Amino acid sequence: MPNQPDISIFRGSRPGSSLPIDIGNFRHFTRGRYALGEAYRLAGVNRDGALLAPAYHCVTMLDPAMALGADIVLYPLQPDLSPVLNKLDELLAAYGKPVKAFLATHYFGLAKNFSHLKKWCDRHDIVLIEDCSHTLFTEAFQAAGTGIYGRFVASSPYKFFACEDGGLLYSPDAVLLDTVKTRPAGVVEELRGIKRVIEKCRSNGPTASDSELIDARLAELNVKPLIEGNNRITAYDHPSSLYTAEESGLSSLMGSRCIVRLSSLTENMKRRRNNYQRWAKAVAELPNCHALFPELPEYCFPYMFPLHIKHAKPHFYWLKQLGTPVWRWDEMVISGCPIAQDYRLHLLHLACHQSLTDLQLDWMITVLQKTLRSPWQGVK
Ligand SMILES: Cc1ncc(COP(=O)(O)O)c(C=O)c1O
Repeated sequence: MPNQPDISIFRGSRPGSSLPIDIGNFRHFTRGRYALGEAYRLAGVNRDGALLAPAYHCVTMLDPAMALGADIVLYPLQPDLSPVLNKLDELLAAYGKPVKAFLATHYFGLAKNFSHLKKWCDRHDIVLIEDCSHTLFTEAFQAAGTGIYGRFVASSPYKFFACEDGGLLYSPDAVLLDTVKTRPAGVVEELRGIKRVIEKCRSNGPTASDSELIDARLAELNVKPLIEGNNRITAYDHPSSLYTAEESGLSSLMGSRCIVRLSSLTENMKRRRNNYQRWAKAVAELPNCHALFPELPEYCFPYMFPLHIKHAKPHFYWLKQLGTPVWRWDEMVISGCPIAQDYRLHLLHLACHQSLTDLQLDWMITVLQKTLRSPWQGVK
């Protein structure tokens, strides 16, 4: 089977679970956000039932709860992005109204142990939803330590495979998914999906000559006024433009599911782990930053390499202007969580996708190293 990983690439005993789970335990969506939406709905999240969500988040984790008209209560996180368990009772008491679901995220592909959280949720009659959007969680293979405690699990296979779309909803109790209905995409959409996959395969990355330009571009940026993004606080009570009602009931493309089924997990895993470890090595001695998780646990399929930088200003902006594919979650709901507030601007998400070539990764590493070593002399 091509999508059964070769466990010899792991040292240890259990790389993950590839026990066949009945397909009746899964529902397919175009994105994980719509799978989360169904999980929220099934858990009873609505105008009268709130969602407890992590203070460090991207908007698409909250959009579906906004679409249901629900309140969202943010819970604080520790530096390693686990929930601060001893604050949860306080939070629940302060909110005072019914809370129906708890969203727990395995960030960046590193599985967390949610066993205590599960007990807390059970004590308070709250449904635990596992957010496996950053972990490899498909019908055929579930990364070790994921999808064990959630009554519902949502994942985003499109983040791990070269496919156009893909969001999964899973429940260990198939009956709970009985009311989840999706409509299939049409032939035209299927064909468009195939076209986009081919186009992506053909797109060119940076070339070696780009590396030679980095010093010159940095010197230029250093003496220019910094071009920053908007830092506005906006009140809104509807989902972002990344969430649409029309897409919410649409199932993923058959072409995407085929790609997931036929891709080699072993190769995918090796490349991702290798890319992650190359980042970890490259930043180990680098000033003005630290890796959030320098050690990659065994059996882990990393999603991105999270790097904390000291000076978001100017380094994040320079990285962007140099064309580095780098992300951070700066659009976030304000909370009292100091970690979320810090990570919002300082935690970079760096790509370790299996399709990166050595040349591309070399270039990204060089840009990062040169940027973080570059002193800030620019005009304010
Ligand atoms: C942690 C997390 N959960 C859920 C989502 C939603 O996933 P999707 O992009 O598949 O809708 C995202 C989006 O990137 C995410 O980062």
